[in-house]
Amino acid sequence: MSEQPFITFGAPDLREEEIQEVVQTLRGGWLGKGPRVAAFEAQFAAYQGLAPEQAAAVSSCTAALHLSLVAAGVGPGDEVITTPLTFCATVNTILHTGATPVLCDVERQSMNIDVRNLRACVTPRTKAVLPVHFAGRPCEMDEVLAVARDHGLVVIEDCAHAIEARYRGAPVGTLGDYGCFSFYATKNLTTGEGGMVLARGAEQLARVRRLSMHGMTQDAWQRHSGRGFGQYDVVECGFKYNMMDLEAAIGLHQLRRLESGLERRSEIWSRYQRAFADLPVTLPAPVPPHMRHALHLYTLLLDEGRGRIGRDAFVERMAQLGVGVGIHYKALPEHSYYQQRLGWRPGDTPVATSIGHRSVSLPLSPRLTDAEVERLVLAVHAALAG
Ligand SMILES: Cc1ncc(COP(=O)(O)O)c(C=O)c1O
Repeated sequence: MSEQPFITFGAPDLREEEIQEVVQTLRGGWLGKGPRVAAFEAQFAAYQGLAPEQAAAVSSCTAALHLSLVAAGVGPGDEVITTPLTFCATVNTILHTGATPVLCDVERQSMNIDVRNLRACVTPRTKAVLPVHFAGRPCEMDEVLAVARDHGLVVIEDCAHAIEARYRGAPVGTLGDYGCFSFYATKNLTTGEGGMVLARGAEQLARVRRLSMHGMTQDAWQRHSGRGFGQYDVVECGFKYNMMDLEAAIGLHQLRRLESGLERRSEIWSRYQRAFADLPVTLPAPVPPHMRHALHLYTLLLDEGRGRIGRDAFVERMAQLGVGVGIHYKALPEHSYYQQRLGWRPGDTPVATSIGHRSVSLPLSPRLTDAEVERLVLAVHAALAG
């Protein structure tokens, strides 16, 4: 057992400025959706090269995906094509609309939806395609958009891992009709829990905003800040999916450090690539010049045949050596719920299933010190040596 402090997977980089902003918010007497959420939306939109009214802050990426699907008109009888190598939220939100998720297996190197298989997944019922920019690496969006254009599909990008990712210079999340972001505790930018929707159309975003607040025409800040009318109308049956000022207080400062955080993760990433080059593992694939990777997950593939130990034994050994690691992801067809409800089987998506058995993600937080990174490197070598 290691004597040194445990290195947690996905530790957030929180500083004094966030803490002070949260304290001021608490003292200011307005915790819910208000001016800090509005400022965070405007600044996030600006970071993604958009106008302030093009971003709506919500309670999570799950909420962002659900609202985008509803705003896109996805419902019972529709099919939505997505990836098997993702967090369950991606398909659960499709199921919540009454639509059926259809899996398109991933491409081995990029671990993103294999665009060569995409067209074959389209049926007369297909309404949308929901690509995930896995680990922060952009999907091949030219192909995704071409298939969508040819078949009249809505494109909803799951950018939970990919805040800083760019595709041919454009921010991911601005290429399709909707872009959905996560600010969960382990993400590149955190608000504890939180999310954001970007939408190409102003009407669509206004609908997302309204749906995030029960379908009301005014939120509480508009009613109680002395600037608006006290009356509101409920024009449709929405959800309670808004972000709070308390959360946006954290996000405002995290946003300012996004690029420096990416630089630090890039240093750690390069160190890992050099340190593990000779080990019996598969390293993350290089990124083509037309993409900027957001470096959210550093994912190694382990092979029982090539290395001495399999993934699960490796995870246990790393824990004994004082390092927490992540698994992204057990492929969706391996989960019992989807097997029972949708009849999915692991063999349906063999590439994602194989990645799910072999993958392990190492800590990549920008707050890791050089000494911790070296400890991590030694731990990986020791764990693989058996
Ligand atoms: C790819 C992906 N999509 C969606 C989500 C859901 O995000 P949230 O936890 O903000 O709802 C996550 C969360 O980890 C994710 O990794």
